[in-house]
Amino acid sequence: AITVDPRTAGAKIDDTMYGVFFEDINRAADGGLYAELVQNRSFEYSTADNRSYTPLTSWATTGTAKTVDDDGRLNARNRTYLALDGGSSVTNSGYNTGISVEKGKVYDFSVWARTEGRSALTVTLQDADGELSEARRVTARGGWAKYTARFTATRTSATGRLTVSTGSPVALDMISLIPRDTYKGHGLRKDLAQRIAALDPAFVRFPGGCLVNTGSMQDYSESSNWERKRSYQWKDTIGPVEQRATNANFWGYNQSYGLGYHEYFQFSEDIGAMPLPVVPALVTGCGQNRAVDDDALLKRHIQDTLDLIEYANGPVTSEWGRKRAKAGHPKPFHLTHLAVGNEENLPNEYFERFKQFRAAIEAKYPDITVVSNSGPDDSGSTFDTAWKLNREANVDMVDEHYYNSPAWFLQNNDRYDSYDRNGPKVFLGEYASQGNTFKNALSEAAFMTGLERNADIVKLASYAPLLANEDYVQWRPDLIWFNNHASWNSANYEVQKLFMRNVGDRVVPSTATGTPSLNGPITGAVGLSTWATTAAYDDVRVTGADGTALLSDDFSGDASKWTHTGGGSWSVQDGQYVQSDEAAENTMVSAGDPAWHDYDVHVKATKKSGK
Ligand code: AHR
Repeated sequence: AITVDPRTAGAKIDDTMYGVFFEDINRAADGGLYAELVQNRSFEYSTADNRSYTPLTSWATTGTAKTVDDDGRLNARNRTYLALDGGSSVTNSGYNTGISVEKGKVYDFSVWARTEGRSALTVTLQDADGELSEARRVTARGGWAKYTARFTATRTSATGRLTVSTGSPVALDMISLIPRDTYKGHGLRKDLAQRIAALDPAFVRFPGGCLVNTGSMQDYSESSNWERKRSYQWKDTIGPVEQRATNANFWGYNQSYGLGYHEYFQFSEDIGAMPLPVVPALVTGCGQNRAVDDDALLKRHIQDTLDLIEYANGPVTSEWGRKRAKAGHPKPFHLTHLAVGNEENLPNEYFERFKQFRAAIEAKYPDITVVSNSGPDDSGSTFDTAWKLNREANVDMVDEHYYNSPAWFLQNNDRYDSYDRNGPKVFLGEYASQGNTFKNALSEAAFMTGLERNADIVKLASYAPLLANEDYVQWRPDLIWFNNHASWNSANYEVQKLFMRNVGDRVVPSTATGTPSLNGPITGAVGLSTWATTAAYDDVRVTGADGTALLSDDFSGDASKWTHTGGGSWSVQDGQYVQSDEAAENTMVSAGDPAWHDYDVHVKATKKSGK
């Protein structure tokens, strides 16, 4: 039974409570949310990105075709180009199974070309069954210039190939094919953007994650030995796409920055969410424990952060506001929050630098909330030190991250009940229970009720990671999955959607009896699956809702139809599935038979004496 107490006012829940965290992991950007269909369009893939890469990765050539890095390049930030002799061709195979097109849809082709005199280019879109659109002819003349053509797909295919062939020698770069129909016309893949928008997120944290705070903190240099493993820095990612220097991604692939800071701001605006960027703090995280001691570099990064705020919010007469206007957005993007750093393992070194960022930002932009963080863990000495420093410095908001088992999420529903009400607020920037099954989603839902109960202290929360291309996975679980032609939601997505689309105004204090409890017999029930933390119990039995042994029905005591995690010995006794030793902790029990979810299942456990 649940008893509510409407007379007592609970915490106010901010409209901005739930958002999303977008990181370019699992090919979330190139080959994902960024709608470009050509992979390695600028021939900049390099072994520095990934040992299996060459400048011709995802390209096949016929005739005489070679990649060149010399003074004839398109520009200093786009160094390698393709030289084709007459009678040669180059074919791109896109992402996953190929270039994906839909019958009747329009696709915009573009290419930068340089030639002596004139070169007639033929551009085709085909799959193994033949043409996917009528071929196009483009005539290139003279020095580097951009040429365009439009394709209309005559068939639907997920295995397309884009081929450019030439009758005479030509240099090519930035070979691109983008669907005309992108989300709100801003260059993002529509189905993925729509899935994110359907969550109705209040904020978008971006661009990382480990992506931000690892690699060299040096900026892009136009010398020939320029850094290929730079931390993600916003100035590298704006302006004309052919002038954005690609970079080695922390997650082991090349990032084109076609989806850059301007696009992140635009997307946030398009889905009615507040942008929440994360900038590097000059202390590497994510297993690379290194503090960069370079005062000039630190000052440059702090200035870059001030410039970022000006890019987002400054008037069109300001230096960076003018660049925003030039990119097509004269109005400000209304940046209110900004995070410095991600998961630093060196709290003292991090905090030294954080304080300097914060002082500079607050001096110029006192209304911006500067978010600090607490390292990569949910507890422990690094976490405690980080929190101590944040409390002592009266920081506004601290970013926490954790990825744990479903049982952890159930056991820690009260995590924030004891947080200091006068201390910094919490931004739960990354969390997930380790899996995409229903039990994971349910444990997250249970945990989120604890976030809401503590909405006076937990101000923002975002599940992580958001997107995964099924053929390029570095991290799981993920909220939304996709390939080159389809996308689908996880069970965890449905939980996020439920909470995000139904944010309450105020918590109504309530008490419950008869709900699953770790301090007494477990009698709670769920439909699809259920679990028991067995450490404190002598045995765990799975029964039907009315108390009869579930396994005596359809499963007829057949233990092979059941699976569990967590170890320990399980057997069927008296038609019930029973754990018969104490070895397993956080055990998940579920049925292999889909018919099982027709049952209302209870887990019963006998409490161990003395626990
Ligand atoms: O969300 C995936 C990764 O998890 C993030 O990049 C990092 O911040 C965390 O360790």
